[in-house]
Amino acid sequence: MPKDTLTITDNRTGKTYEVPIRYGTYPTYGAAINTADLRQIKASDDDFGLMGYDPAFGNTASCRSTITHIDGERGILRYRGYPIEQLAESSTYLETAYLILYGELPTRQQLEEWTWEITHHTMIHESIKKFLDGFHHDAHPMGMLVGTVGALSTFYPDAKDIKDKDVRRKQVVRLIAKMPTLAAFAYRHSLGRPYAYPDNDLSYTGNFLNMLLKTTELKYTPNAVLERALDVLFILHADHEQNCSTNAMRSIGSSHPDPYSALAGAAAALYGPLHGGANEAVLRMLGEIGSKANVPAYVERVKKGEVLLMGFGHRVYKNYDPRAKIIKRIAEEVFEVTGTNPLLEIAIELERIALQDEYFIKRRLYPNVDFYSGIIYQAMGFPVEMFPVLFAIPRTSGWLAQWEEMLDDGDQRISRPRQIYEGADVRNYVAMALRERGKAA
Ligand code: SDX
Repeated sequence: MPKDTLTITDNRTGKTYEVPIRYGTYPTYGAAINTADLRQIKASDDDFGLMGYDPAFGNTASCRSTITHIDGERGILRYRGYPIEQLAESSTYLETAYLILYGELPTRQQLEEWTWEITHHTMIHESIKKFLDGFHHDAHPMGMLVGTVGALSTFYPDAKDIKDKDVRRKQVVRLIAKMPTLAAFAYRHSLGRPYAYPDNDLSYTGNFLNMLLKTTELKYTPNAVLERALDVLFILHADHEQNCSTNAMRSIGSSHPDPYSALAGAAAALYGPLHGGANEAVLRMLGEIGSKANVPAYVERVKKGEVLLMGFGHRVYKNYDPRAKIIKRIAEEVFEVTGTNPLLEIAIELERIALQDEYFIKRRLYPNVDFYSGIIYQAMGFPVEMFPVLFAIPRTSGWLAQWEEMLDDGDQRISRPRQIYEGADVRNYVAMALRERGKAA
């Protein structure tokens, strides 16, 4: 009967070691060893013992989780076991956020209470307007969001009591409720428009559109198609297991600051063009290509390694990102209302050529969530700078769920990776006088 262990022979010493293999829910995708078990493998008694070396954690499980499962080979994404396609079809963002945070779909009463709580925490302290006003008119809204969400920690000092579940729940509600307000206020600041306050009669995304777009009308009425499209886009962006920004949330959270400070760090990680900033980079790339006729020349530049094909590729998906498929369908519904986006034609041609080109096939590069989302956002009237902000708002529920899971996980403690030191060996300080005479110690 095969044993769930590894037998390791260290050829430096001839010793053998038995290391247990542990499994997650899917034995075909989640078998692991505790890297700490390698420390017993020593070349000599005073040896530190073996470590695992895995820059960027390409093959390292940092935690056990029950929140999101991705199967990169088969293009599967599930939140708490529910396929993303079904949630996009039948759920709402607030219901999905509840599922991601608390593990089960809410009852009708739970959803009504949850929605009431979020709706009644959308206001922000009036002082926040003072530092929003301090930003330049052309400040990037993602920079404003990172700054203001971190500043929220100064308004809720009780949030430091992260061991109290009731205190945590209060901050979770505040953050999910206030991120759209901070985002909308940043947007209005960049336009030089007065802030539009939350309207409690509207849905989560309806109210977000209200705070973004309301002008002189007494009551803003969102376009139902755009309101639903944004809600589905928020569902698709809610969580994605241990991505770069979630890893930041968990790592910062592991030293036990308040969740506003941890989330500011997660949002900063998301801002990068290789991560959540890719949707903005895709639009700039499509604009640079300019026309369908220029696509082949751009693809050649990608293949020469001069530029990346933004919105393509993924650390986990080596198949089509299931979210990209859904977003393509949403695009058609949005364009019915807004009129099509001329960049869509360039994107479709780029995808067509890339999916049949050996360079991309060999590297298993497919469109990811960011490839089409920006085209929709632009058609809805958002400036490209707002695109990463539109990613950060829904991902707030995922970041917070992962943060809570880390805090409740007995395996977890403060994140502190090891290193392989390759620098200078010990050497003595050299006084300036000697240095100037080119003398060593
Ligand atoms: C998100 O992790 C998540 O879950 C993230 C996310 C989420 O929901 O949280 O899904 C959201 O961030 C989606 C990704 C958005 N980023 C982009 O679209 C930027 C473009 N993509 C690449 O930067 C890249 O594909 C990454 C960052 C997404 C993944 O990088 P990896 O896993 O480190 O892949 P790699 O760099 O090792 O690539 C393998 C090869 C390399 O070529 P070789 O060195 O083997 O010759 O593929 C090439 C790369 O140069 N490659 C690309 C490419 N992506 C990878 N070449 C051209 N264009 C690309 N986009």
